[in-house]
Amino acid sequence: MKLLFLNGPNLNMLGIREPDIYGRRTYADLEAYIGDFCGQMGIEYAIKQSNYEGGLVDAIQSAYGSMDGIVINPAAYTHTSVAVLDALKAVALPAVEVHLSRVSEREDFRQISYAGMACVKTFAGYGFAGYRMAAEFLMEYAKN
Ligand code: DQA
Repeated sequence: MKLLFLNGPNLNMLGIREPDIYGRRTYADLEAYIGDFCGQMGIEYAIKQSNYEGGLVDAIQSAYGSMDGIVINPAAYTHTSVAVLDALKAVALPAVEVHLSRVSEREDFRQISYAGMACVKTFAGYGFAGYRMAAEFLMEYAKN
């Protein structure tokens, strides 16, 4: 099982940005957390982060033929990007959407998720654990 973990804009600022919402752990902490559970679960993985819409599109396209699934937190591009949605549809890999915060309880403009329309599942509001839940979901999904 090979998974791409893809994070969008400003997630590299974890630990600094709005700690009341996103916590005090850093992006390096998130990378270590993902590495730990992938090791435990026997998952091969790549972790990428981009502050650019096109960087996310490139990363999704590069997963085609090399990855079995995508765990994506498109961050702000969740709510705006038809390009990210189209890229997920283009590669047609099983994808799970993750958000650290409980977006359903936040501003109106966060209530639409374009990327989510191409995802088989969403985990929002579980902090770092959402990434692990997404990986577990994709492992089960691959069996069926
Ligand atoms: C986020 C939620 C988005 O609305 C926001 O723009 C982010 C982070 C989350 O992980 O909770 O940057 O995706």
